[in-house]
Formats: sequence, structure tokens, C-alpha cells
Amino acid sequence: MKRFADRNVLVTGAASGIGAATAVRLAAEGATVACVDVDTVGLTAMVAAIAASGDRAAPYPLDLLDRDAVRPVVETIAADLGGLDAVCNVAGIGTWGFDADVTLEQWDRILGVNLIGTWLVCQAALPFLVESKGAIVNTASTAATDATPYQAPYAASKGGVVALTRTLAVNHAAERVRVNAVAPGPIDTPIVGSFLPPDGADMDLITHTILPFGEIGRPEEVAAAIAFLASDDASHVNGHVLKVDGGQARLSYFRGRIGGRSTMANTSSRISACSVASSRRGLRPYPTNSPDPSMRLVIAAARRNASPRDLAEVERLMRDSRWRPRQRAVGS
Ligand SMILES: NC(=O)c1ccc[n+]([C@@H]2O[C@H](COP(=O)([O-])OP(=O)(O)OC[C@H]3O[C@@H](n4cnc5c(N)ncnc54)[C@H](O)[C@@H]3O)[C@@H](O)[C@H]2O)c1
Repeated sequence: MKRFADRNVLVTGAASGIGAATAVRLAAEGATVACVDVDTVGLTAMVAAIAASGDRAAPYPLDLLDRDAVRPVVETIAADLGGLDAVCNVAGIGTWGFDADVTLEQWDRILGVNLIGTWLVCQAALPFLVESKGAIVNTASTAATDATPYQAPYAASKGGVVALTRTLAVNHAAERVRVNAVAPGPIDTPIVGSFLPPDGADMDLITHTILPFGEIGRPEEVAAAIAFLASDDASHVNGHVLKVDGGQARLSYFRGRIGGRSTMANTSSRISACSVASSRRGLRPYPTNSPDPSMRLVIAAARRNASPRDLAEVERLMRDSRWRPRQRAVGS
């Protein structure tokens, strides 16, 4: 079924992870996709991959922190494509840190990309979406809807995305523009490398808040939800925040209540341990898209197909890092 035949869709963050999977998915469903990202190399590769599949996409380099550049790029896209039917705001950045260590610069960048960047794209695109009676899908996070540790600026930015989504939904309902969001849990993409527990983090706290199923989600699983919300299949869905987290919130609450350390929790511990190991090896902070081999191990440890060799390597990193499962936060 080609739900996006003859439709034009703008996707931010299209060079990597969930945005790339969304661009691929929408193009495969018939859309002409305007791929927007600050990463011009990744953008070129992604557009080439879509074209190689016989689908339609074009690259539009844009740094969402360059506020004056957003509107001209959105207007150029609408002019090039002959209008806009949907906008998927997927670009995002984040980090973990103790409250005492978080800097204003981090707040500015994270809010600047995740919240203000999303707003600027929405604002510039709305006239075209009113014309087409189109749809916006924003990308929040379970960090916005459920408490997750060590993520103050990121969680606040995503909480802002939720509030923005609901407000825009009521603002433009009469114009028949739908505005929804996805709220992913942990997904297997390069951004995971930006989220390393700070030294001395309470690993139990982290253990109880991530990874239901003992597995990290796949970007394609979020892309499918974004495609649904952007499509006419969601014609009566508006102002909604759809969690794509494998049940993270409910399951982590249950684990917290019973105080158990299930297989799921153990997988989560491995990831956190490997993150700690990596950071102790002086590899922090990770740039997005880090090719660092220990980061690949973090991901491998969480993947459904993690090999015994991967897990053994994680165990070794845990030993090297002198990380202990019961390590407590500072002062305890
Ligand atoms: N992966 C997860 O576990 C997870 C969980 C919840 C929410 N999310 C959200 O999903 C979205 C996609 O993340 P992802 O996991 O695919 O990460 P990713 O790092 O693979 O992709 C993020 C993309 O955003 C782009 N980007 C970053 N800063 C930008 C800027 N200033 N201007 C334009 N583009 C910029 C990057 O170049 C990259 O291509 C983000 O909003 C993220 O917060 C991810």
C-alpha cells in the first residue's frame, strides 16, 4: 500500500537513525522526501540509498541551530516540491549528566535543536500544511513522559516537544492540520552514544528505567509509527503522543516495585556498564555518529542478535572499568 503516493514530506534528522529510517519508509510508500540534516555527508548517502531503491528524495542541508536559515530552507523545499503534505521533525541531540555539571551551553544546544528547531520548522511549514490539510509528527521521548535519570535538559526539551505538539494540535485543528508525536524508548541509533552515565551514577536507578524486552528498539519500529501518524490512517488522531518503547514505562515501574533484577535489567546493566567502561577510557563525550568500537559493543550488547563474543567483551570492559553493580551515587 502506497499511503504517500503523490505526497511531499519533509523529514529532519534524515541523515541517521530514526530520521533516516523514516525517510526510507516514507519514500518506499510513495512520498517525495525532502531530507533535512546538518550532517551533509550522511544526508548525501541517505538520499543516494533512497534513489538507488527507485524512490524519490532530495537533500537539504540545514543546521537547526541557525535560526534564520530554517524558514528559507522550508520555503525552498515547498517551492521545489510543489507544496508540503507532512513534516516529520526527528532531528535531536542529548546527553546525560549530574545536575551540578550541566552547563548553560548544553541547555542552549539541546533546547535549540530539539525544541526551538522543531518549533521553527513547524512555524515555517504550517502555511503549506494548512493548504494541503497535512500533518506534523514530532519526536519526543519517554524521557518526557516518564522520569528518566540524569537527563534534565534533554527531558525538558522533549517535555517541551510534547507541550508544543498538543498546543499546535488545538491551534490548527479547525484548519484540518493534525499534529502528533512519537515518544521512543531506547532505540538502536548513534544517539545512544551521547547518553553515557556520569561517573558515580546510580546504576540501579538506570537499570530500573530502561529496556523492556531486554532489547533495544530498532529505528524502523519508530519509523513505522511516524508513518502511521503522518498518514491518512491516522485521520482522527490529533494531539496524541504515541510511545514506541516496548512497554518501558509499565515494565520499569513493575521492576522498581518488586525490586527484581530480571534478565531485562541485566541487559540494561550491561549497556550501562559498557558505557561506564567507555567513559573511563577517556572516550566521553561521544559525538553523534561515533564510530568508536566500544560504542558498537554497547549497541551489540543490547541487540537481539548479540553474540556470546560481544557479551564476553562487554564483561571484560566491565572488569576493566572496575564498575560494580551496586555502585551508588555520590555521597552514599
Ligand atoms: N535513539 C533513541 O534511543 C531515542 C529515544 C528517544 C527519542 N529519540 C529521539 O529520536 C530522534 C532521532 O534520534 P536518533 O536516535 O535517530 O539519533 P541520531 O543521532 O541517529 O540522529 C539524529 C539526527 O539529527 C541530526 N541533527 C543533530 N543536530 C542537528 C542540527 N543542529 N540540525 C539538523 N540536524 C541535526 C543529526 O545529524 C542526526 O542525523 C531525536 O529527536 C532523539 O531525541 C531517540
